[in-house]
Amino acid sequence: MWPFRNGSSGFSSSSTAEKVTQGIDGTGLTAIVTGASSGIGAETTRVLALRGVHVIMAVRNVSAGRDVKEAILKEIPTAKVDVMELDLSSFSSVRKFASDFHSSGLPLNILINNAGITIPNFKLSKDNIELQFATNHLGHFLLTNLLLDKMKKTTSESGKEGRIVNVSSAAHRLTCREGIRFEKINDPSG
Ligand SMILES: NC(=O)c1ccc[n+]([C@@H]2O[C@H](COP(=O)([O-])OP(=O)(O)OC[C@H]3O[C@@H](n4cnc5c(N)ncnc54)[C@H](OP(=O)(O)O)[C@@H]3O)[C@@H](O)[C@H]2O)c1
Repeated sequence: MWPFRNGSSGFSSSSTAEKVTQGIDGTGLTAIVTGASSGIGAETTRVLALRGVHVIMAVRNVSAGRDVKEAILKEIPTAKVDVMELDLSSFSSVRKFASDFHSSGLPLNILINNAGITIPNFKLSKDNIELQFATNHLGHFLLTNLLLDKMKKTTSESGKEGRIVNVSSAAHRLTCREGIRFEKINDPSG
């Protein structure tokens, strides 16, 4: 989509989150936003909180997450925002986050899988998987699976349809001719 041409929704990629959510009351909804300590995740958190949504900031850097939360509370004193630790490059961290979230007893209406890295150099995660694939894809895949039943339960109890948003990049179009080379994911030349 070109930046200034509106799509069928009436918005374009230049529309702000505030503009898109204008007039929407999110009171009573709970959302998790991954990578909420900066950039798109921080702004998504701010605007969801502005609309009354209770936002769980799922962040790797808890201190940076708390700074963002404080800035949001300064602007929106009624905001309901919590910070929880999540390192998507580690399966055990993802499992711990999901377990902690379940222990909180909160419902879950919205999951925004936003965190992501773009690293030029080959690196392995703690689980020995190429770091970018582990963080952007497998971590979010596991997280979503661990939260899916909670989202279904919330939907059936509240009667409100849930939503999972996977933030991506236009770079997904730049693929190899044969598609994803899964057998070469951990190959530095792959
Ligand atoms: N901005 C753009 O133009 C653009 C274009 C295409 C796609 N995107 C996508 O949009 C999303 C947000 O991008 P952004 O521009 O807002 O980038 P950003 O400011 O770099 O934010 C990325 C967030 O992901 C977090 N993160 C990185 N690794 C993590 C991990 N292992 N576990 C948990 N959190 C982790 C970072 O946390 P730390 O603070 O701990 O590093 C940071 O909060 C990404 O998925 C990105 O690929 C953005």
